Amino acid sequence: MMYEMQMTIKKLIAGNWKMNGTLADAKALAIALGAPSDKVEVCVCPPYVHLGTVAVTLDPSVKLGGQDCAQTANGAFTGDISAPMLKDLGCSYVILGHSERRQYHGEADKTVAHKASKAHEQGIITIICVGETEAERNAGIHNEIVMKQLSESIPATANAQNLVIAYEPVWAIGTGKTATLDDIRDMHAVIRHFLQEKLDNSNSIRILYGGSVKADNAKEILAVKDVDGALVGGASLKADQFLAIINAA
Ligand code: 13P
Repeated sequence: MMYEMQMTIKKLIAGNWKMNGTLADAKALAIALGAPSDKVEVCVCPPYVHLGTVAVTLDPSVKLGGQDCAQTANGAFTGDISAPMLKDLGCSYVILGHSERRQYHGEADKTVAHKASKAHEQGIITIICVGETEAERNAGIHNEIVMKQLSESIPATANAQNLVIAYEPVWAIGTGKTATLDDIRDMHAVIRHFLQEKLDNSNSIRILYGGSVKADNAKEILAVKDVDGALVGGASLKADQFLAIINAA
């Protein structure tokens, strides 16, 4: 791999709305976000059923994303939503391999890789999530766990244009606990090194941190080396908090 200059990348702040809110709530939130700072790339990932409404309500500068997609483009897969469908609704991003999908839907790394390749076929940028559980961190195997997730969840179709990694320690999600700044820096360095070994132009691949990012801790987290943005859950449901995180970037 050639030596690459460390370049400045526009940070990405992505809001994962998870399974929250009525259609009216989604619309109100999309309106309240307005046109955020153009110094940062902003994306929101509403529940599937709200995507169409949010798509036509959001300021055009805010990108739209799905929270998951199917492994196939169409067919008899009751309840699934495919990458071409997300594309059709205007999604330019999709979150894949979120720990809640891994935990509650038994998603394996290989499944995540299949889904990602389908999204890449549509030109959708995949936010592939990785992260260790509390037990894995206490056992000191967090780096190995994340490296394995990376090596098996990123498909051959990935490149510097269509890949974002989100490091979300499972124990920090929705708990109010965040990893220490040192732990975040160390893990992001591990992820950067992994990407450098595998992909060209890897220094332009954004590595997001996720897990209890709030308006009051965003600035210090986003200043950590190799933190190129944030994947925000709870705080992305309140426009004032999400806008404060965007402004902190
Ligand atoms: P919280 O910000 O609510 O901890 O959620 C993080 C997350 O899972 C984003 O995908």
